[in-house]
Amino acid sequence: MDFMELANQRQATRAFTEQRVSHETLMECVRAVQLAPSACNSQPWKFVVVETPELVKQVADAIIDNPAGINKNVENAPVLVAVVEEQATLIPQARGLYESNHFAQFDLGSATQYFCLRAAELGLGTCVLGAFNEEKVKTLLQIPVERHVFVMLAVGYSSGKIRTKIRKNIEEIHSVDQYHA
Ligand SMILES: Cc1cc2nc3c(=O)[nH]c(=O)nc-3n(C[C@H](O)[C@H](O)[C@H](O)COP(=O)(O)O)c2cc1C
Repeated sequence: MDFMELANQRQATRAFTEQRVSHETLMECVRAVQLAPSACNSQPWKFVVVETPELVKQVADAIIDNPAGINKNVENAPVLVAVVEEQATLIPQARGLYESNHFAQFDLGSATQYFCLRAAELGLGTCVLGAFNEEKVKTLLQIPVERHVFVMLAVGYSSGKIRTKIRKNIEEIHSVDQYHA
């Protein structure tokens, strides 16, 4: 599969079949995360992969218990993942100069997409979830209070078809040589 095909295949998956996902397949996605770039190669992430069905159910309930009242569909996801932000360590020359850029957020987004794209290549569907009850998730997964759960991921085999992507027009997202509003 070439990259554009893969990028088209990856989509927010909100309905999953009952097929279980093997631990080895999930580890393939984590291995992709290992290859993701990060500022100063700091790799400020930890992916907590929740595979045990009873715990998945509890974590799903913690996701559903969000103030936006969305993500009820995660109940059918066989695997959930917590993407945890770890302390980033910049090289000494960069310290004090670039902290305000919050590179860790870029790094976590990038690593998350490595996970999702590798999952898509392996025939899995994923959905990044920004709405969830962070405190409950942290308690269930024994994540230290000082850590931030950046996003959750729902993972499983999709029961739907690939949709046409709804995106801004290409003219709206780029310009050549000069910025254009
Ligand atoms: C940071 C982030 C948070 C998101 N949070 C949610 C969410 O809480 N619930 C949900 O159903 N989708 C969520 N999504 C999925 C987006 O809605 C989806 O990626 C977007 O609509 C584009 O559709 P596509 O992924 O199918 O291409 C999130 C995506 C990102 C990147």
